[in-house]
Amino acid sequence: MLRTHTCGELRLSDINKEITLSGWVQKSRDLGGMTFIDLRDRYGITQLVFNEDWDKALCAKARQLSREFVLQVTGTVIERESKNKNNPTGEIEIKVTQLKVLNDAVTPPFTIEDDTDGGDELRMKYRYLDLRRNTVRKNLELRHRLAIETRNYLDSKNFLEVETPVLIKSTPEGARDFVVPSRMNQGEFYALPQSPQTFKQLLMVAGFDRYYQIVKCFRDEDLRADRQPEFTQIDCEMSFVEQQDILDTFEGLIKHLFKKVKGIDIPHLPHMTYADAMKYYGNDKPDTRFEMKFVELNDLVKGKGFPVFDNATFVVGICAKGAADYTRKQIDELTEFVKRPQIGATGLVYARYNADGTIKSSVDKFYNEEELKKWATAFNAEAGDLILILAGEKEKTQKALSELRLEMGSRLGLRDKNKYSCLWVVDFPLLEWNENDTNLLESYRGRWVAKHHPFTSPKPEDIGKLKSNPGEVRANAYDMVINGVEIGGGSIRIYNRELQAQMFDLLGFTKEEAQEQFGFLMNAFEYGAPPHGGLAFGFDRLCSLFGGSDSIRDFIAFPKNNSGRDMMIDAPSAISDEQLKELSITSTVK
Ligand code: AMO
Repeated sequence: MLRTHTCGELRLSDINKEITLSGWVQKSRDLGGMTFIDLRDRYGITQLVFNEDWDKALCAKARQLSREFVLQVTGTVIERESKNKNNPTGEIEIKVTQLKVLNDAVTPPFTIEDDTDGGDELRMKYRYLDLRRNTVRKNLELRHRLAIETRNYLDSKNFLEVETPVLIKSTPEGARDFVVPSRMNQGEFYALPQSPQTFKQLLMVAGFDRYYQIVKCFRDEDLRADRQPEFTQIDCEMSFVEQQDILDTFEGLIKHLFKKVKGIDIPHLPHMTYADAMKYYGNDKPDTRFEMKFVELNDLVKGKGFPVFDNATFVVGICAKGAADYTRKQIDELTEFVKRPQIGATGLVYARYNADGTIKSSVDKFYNEEELKKWATAFNAEAGDLILILAGEKEKTQKALSELRLEMGSRLGLRDKNKYSCLWVVDFPLLEWNENDTNLLESYRGRWVAKHHPFTSPKPEDIGKLKSNPGEVRANAYDMVINGVEIGGGSIRIYNRELQAQMFDLLGFTKEEAQEQFGFLMNAFEYGAPPHGGLAFGFDRLCSLFGGSDSIRDFIAFPKNNSGRDMMIDAPSAISDEQLKELSITSTVK
């Protein structure tokens, strides 16, 4: 070994020991006769000291060292005169007797500090330097810890980790596939898995009973802070279970992780139906760290001559506690916020319930104080509160108000990153009408698509509505939501050939298409498939939640940017004509 200790472990109890350290130069300070160098490795920073009085040549050599040089030093541990209480090794320093430069380094394009001067793109390009920073490395240490504890818990519950293939056949799960051309089967393509969904179901048919895998998934979809084209799931499946068994098992996992990794006891997870989530939060992943529930106002506000409300199909609002003193400017900011194209509201109506008990609204012309008092009652508002109302078409208005609710939550300091509110959202609709989802192929537009995926079972009591009213059929599907983030989701599966065939029919597949794409699964159902179900957690999202960040990129060693590029290796990239020819791919955009 090129060291006897790491840069994070020496203490006063090691005084007078002869040690060898290896690491990178974090910074150096030349104080004339003395030179100090902070030597860094994964474990910490140790101060090296060189003194002209001890060794002139060595001190001169130390002065030549620049940031990020790789060193091996031997010396004696001595007590520091001025101690640094903020550094665990801050009570000692190393009186260096031998110095070897293992490698030199050009000046890095940004500082390797917690607060770096490097912008996003630059740090992505030099990710190996970014990874030297404490903050980024700590995120990956957290990821490691979460993976280990996940395995510990699932192993203790008899789950087997099984690897499933990466070169597979297309499994539509709400996004486009990444495809890989096959040289040996000219003109044919593999798809990279959007998830191991069908394989884990086949493992249940195979009698594996309890499966899990911490596994890469690939989806060619629009990217956001919480989405990457390749991401990791904790993917799980269980046999001979009902929905509640699955919820209990994975509530157990999340509690285990919070306890072991953060030392937090999470209370029992409440269940909220999808219908209630939409009604009270306008969102199927409600942030329940704070209340501010939606109140529908159609009955209260219509017919008083205010055209915006009269012409809207849906009028709905929230009550922001203690925000009645919002200034005109702050209200204008909120109005601008909801009018942004991504939010899409046409305007914002407000009513201030002043501290003196009077109520003033932006629509006083149409509603008198008595009517406004009724609004206040509907919201359970008190003096000092601010009521905010949006109107329009139902879905769009719900979505816009949901954004405004989150914005108000943030502004009022109600979204504390150190507070966790976990719940299950249950009873999702089985299907949704896809008008224009840009994440799906065009051929999926103007038809029913599975809200979760096509293998999800309808609730038995709703099966009768599959033909007559497919939009009303509820699924045995559930999501785990924490602080407004969909951390995981799953369902009880169909395990019967006929019902699965009926499902594909509803989703607009011809019999031949269904057989061609999913025959392997439907055939397997004929060989004694057990009742089964499962779920998958978004592992990157879980890490970012535990790490208190909104971006999953910070928790992935080598992430892609928002255009799906790996800036460091410059991928994707063109391939040679020779490679294209071998694959029988004749045209490409250059
Ligand atoms: P689903 O599609 O809901 O279910 O995915 C499970 C979880 O994976 C996370 N996730 C993502 N994380 C980062 N980037 C992405 N692009 C991305 N897409 C999804 C989310 C999500 O809740 N096979 C089913 C699971 C099942 O039914 O068992 C599935 O993949 O946190």
